[in-house]
Amino acid sequence: MTSIQPHGGTLINRLIEGQQRETLLAEAQTLQQIRINTWTLSDLDLIAVGAFSPLNGFMNEEDYQRVVREMRLSDGTVWSIPVTLPVADAQTSLVGEQVALVGEQDDVVYAVLNVESVYEIDPSFEAIHVFKTDDPEHPGVKKLFELPLQRIGGSVQVLNRPQPERFNEFYFDPIQTRQQFEEKGWKTIVGFQTRNPVHRAHEYIQKSALETVDALFLNPLVGETKSDDVPADIRMRSYLVLLENYYPSARTFLGVFPAAMRYGGPREAIFHAIVRKNYGCTHFIVGRDHAGVGDYYGTYEAQEIFANFKPEELDITPLFFEHSFFCTHCGNMATSKTCPHDKEKHLTLSGTKVRALLRAGECPPPEFTRPEVAKVLIEGMQERVTEHA
Ligand code: ADX
Repeated sequence: MTSIQPHGGTLINRLIEGQQRETLLAEAQTLQQIRINTWTLSDLDLIAVGAFSPLNGFMNEEDYQRVVREMRLSDGTVWSIPVTLPVADAQTSLVGEQVALVGEQDDVVYAVLNVESVYEIDPSFEAIHVFKTDDPEHPGVKKLFELPLQRIGGSVQVLNRPQPERFNEFYFDPIQTRQQFEEKGWKTIVGFQTRNPVHRAHEYIQKSALETVDALFLNPLVGETKSDDVPADIRMRSYLVLLENYYPSARTFLGVFPAAMRYGGPREAIFHAIVRKNYGCTHFIVGRDHAGVGDYYGTYEAQEIFANFKPEELDITPLFFEHSFFCTHCGNMATSKTCPHDKEKHLTLSGTKVRALLRAGECPPPEFTRPEVAKVLIEGMQERVTEHA
């Protein structure tokens, strides 16, 4: 195991196997059923395998309230994002009972939940605290406002796991990543979250980090994202060509993070760091506007939020990076910390511009995106167009 402890000290495992699973599956048939969507299912699975340690289930009211207001669980452990199970019309009389969690698309019984509390939330209050806005245009707020108001909280016993449709070989549970890191002899591992293709700016901050640690854990988020983000299967292909052509294979590890994107900026940065600690990382990269969207968050707010916690409370070292770019005068990637030139010497392309180029089948400049990556993205976009034609 890497020397780094999971958050809260114990790697949670809520997967039930063998005879106990058979018994619970039979019992589940007699229980009230709660139907869960793919978002909740991905949370459930991440709870089950300890990626969300110390959570052993969906938040009860006490944990929820304290997380929203103070970024802490009821026992004081740092936790910044609510992980809750929305329900419509649940009775408070369910407290103390068990319910079965059943996939709304496939009718699979995924888990049994021991109901600790049934409560109602105030979505505007949560939005303001967690997302710092209650603007319904914010994708995280929009999602929240679409959900029913009730929540059902309690520990879970997980009986079945969702099966990945693709890239199966890149799904690793925290126990497996920890084992891999150990086997490779890595003592310091930097985790990198992304919901985008890896452009040169991402590569630059990853490699800058890699200069000082043993290894890079490239951990793209592949759960639900907003519809204009590049789909995960196309991104996966782009990561593979990039790693193959530009990264030392002995010092990089690619594994997916099958969570939904919250677009919660600063609070999500804390959450992302904690989860990567659970996967066995010692360091975590936070660049410009981490997990941000639009202009809801300041460029470095997701870095500043770390100052609210003592280093030992998080126990993973954040590595902060300024906005990076290619400087045509320096002839290399840089940030304002390393480049003295004016903005007009810096190559910057908006996401919209890059998407427009790719859609037109044109590669962005190689100083922005590696040509191999651009090729995969162009092909991927063309496939989508054909599929939707
Ligand atoms: S995120 O929503 O997953 O954070 P993205 O995939 O774009 O979005 O970013 C991944 C990581 O790279 C984040 O830590 C982000 O802050 C950082 N990052 C993205 N672009 C830049 C850039 N130009 N300069 C510095 N950091 C960046």
